[in-house]
Amino acid sequence: MWIVANWKSNLNIKESIDWIDAVGPKLLRDENLKIVVCPSFEALGEVKKAIEVGGYPIFAGSQDLSPFGEGAFTGEVNAESLKDLVNFSIIGHSERRDKLGETDDLIEEKSKEAQKFSIEPILCIQSAETPIPKNVKLVAYEPVFAIGSGNPDTPENANRVASTVKKIINNKLEVLYGGSVAPSNIKDFVNEPEIDGVLIGKACLVPDEFLKMVDACKD
Ligand code: PGA
Repeated sequence: MWIVANWKSNLNIKESIDWIDAVGPKLLRDENLKIVVCPSFEALGEVKKAIEVGGYPIFAGSQDLSPFGEGAFTGEVNAESLKDLVNFSIIGHSERRDKLGETDDLIEEKSKEAQKFSIEPILCIQSAETPIPKNVKLVAYEPVFAIGSGNPDTPENANRVASTVKKIINNKLEVLYGGSVAPSNIKDFVNEPEIDGVLIGKACLVPDEFLKMVDACKD
């Protein structure tokens, strides 16, 4: 079971470390639970350090990465420079598609760059029709209407989409659900047979709420 925390453009460096210090010591090592925290770029180094020093069962992820390698690409953060900091990267989030014009082709390039440096893409799709680049193993179904709206998809429909995507891709694929996941509804999603975890935005910013959601995924 996956729990991915997407902090988006929230939590400065100090707030990020405080979050890790509040959550980390309360997490028990659980082989069946994979927790990934995706801070903003400026906090990644400190977050990674805090996880290592505490020995917490948390993986670090980025929220994006460059479609290019090292070089003259002002403002970009390339996969090679991230490879020692993160194991995962969210790629193709709908906020980037909508607000920054990211296309399926660009997202495919980012996905390739991540894989070149052993960073596992968490590829966001908005429906079963969204193209999924080759070799992607982890997908997050996040319908746009559900993101940040307090109006999640139904667990049954999310399960249906997860099942459809797994059939189309025809390889070993895990599918997460994201969009207004909260302590009150997380169990309904993770109990669905084809849903392998959740990608959480707003509700994961408060440590106690996050810990409630971790607990809900345990049984
Ligand atoms: P939300 O965001 O949980 O705040 O809806 C999820 C996401 O955009 O990944």
